[in-house]
Amino acid sequence: MEERRLGPVVGLGTWNTFDLNAELASEVVTAALDSGCRLFDSSPMYGGAELSLSVAFEESREQTVIATKIWARTVEAGRAQYARQVGWFGRMEIEQIHNLLAWREHLEWLERERDAGRIDRLGVTHYSSSAFGELADALRTGRFDTVQIPLNPHERECERELLPLAAELGIAVIVMRPFGGGGLVLRPPPAEVLAELGVETWPQALLKWALSDERVDVVIPATTNPERTRSNAKAGSPPWFDDEQRRLVEQWAA
Ligand SMILES: NC(=O)c1ccc[n+]([C@@H]2O[C@H](COP(=O)([O-])OP(=O)(O)OC[C@H]3O[C@@H](n4cnc5c(N)ncnc54)[C@H](OP(=O)(O)O)[C@@H]3O)[C@@H](O)[C@H]2O)c1
Repeated sequence: MEERRLGPVVGLGTWNTFDLNAELASEVVTAALDSGCRLFDSSPMYGGAELSLSVAFEESREQTVIATKIWARTVEAGRAQYARQVGWFGRMEIEQIHNLLAWREHLEWLERERDAGRIDRLGVTHYSSSAFGELADALRTGRFDTVQIPLNPHERECERELLPLAAELGIAVIVMRPFGGGGLVLRPPPAEVLAELGVETWPQALLKWALSDERVDVVIPATTNPERTRSNAKAGSPPWFDDEQRRLVEQWAA
C-alpha cells in the first residue's frame, strides 16, 4: 500500500461499528493489519469503540497508529478522557479535537502533552461544512498537525478552502465519510465501468477517487466486515485516477 505522511493511505474508522464488541473489533483489526492498514480513527463519542480497539490491539499495538479524539466541553472532562486513552493505548500517535469542541481551551494542555512526547501529532476535526470557516481559523493558528474532514463525490466543500490551506500550511489530511456514511456504496455502476477504472468494486473506486487528490493523506472507511476491510485496503495502491476517471466516478455517484 502507498504511504504518505501518516503512513499507509487506507485506515479504518470506528463510528457505529464496534461499540463494546471487542471480538468483532479484533476480527476487523486483524483483517486491516493483514491488508497493510495501520491508522485507526476513534473517539469517546463512539460508545465503547476505543475500549474495543484497545483489546483488539493487545498483540499488535506497536504496528498501529491510533488517531483518537478529545470530545469534551471542559478541560477537566477532556483530561479525564485523555487519562482513559493513556490507559488503553499508552500514548497517542494522533490526538484530535472532535468537532472543534472547546478547541482553544484543549489546545493548550494538549500541546504540553505533545511537547512531553506523549502525543506525536495534534489534529482537529469537523463533519459539517457550516463549521469550515472556524476550522480554517484553527488551522491558521499553525498549532495543528492534522485535519479531518469529509470528502466524497457528494461532499466536496473542503476543496474550496480547507484542502488548499492544509497544503499551504503542511497539515496532513484525514478523510472521513469516504462513502458518505454508506449511502454512496448502494448503487454501484456496471462491471464495464469498474473495469475502465481498474478496480474490482465500487467502494474501491470511491476510495481511489479521494486518494487521487494528492493533498489527502489517508481515508478512513468504517466497516463491521473483515472481508470488506480487506477489499477496501486494495484501493490504497497506485495507479491513481486521472481527471477523466475522477469525472467518471462523479457521474456514477451523482
Ligand atoms: N470527526 C467527525 O466529526 C467524524 C464524523 C463522521 C465520521 N468520522 C470518522 O470517519 C469514519 C468514516 O465515516 P463513516 O463511518 O461515517 O462513513 P463511511 O466510512 O463513509 O461509510 C461507512 C459505511 O459503509 C459501509 N461499507 C464499508 N465498506 C464497505 C464495502 N466495501 N461495501 C459495502 N459497504 C461498505 C459500512 O457498512 P458495513 O459495516 O455493513 O460494511 C458502513 O455502514 C467514521 O467511522 C469515523 O471514524 C468522523
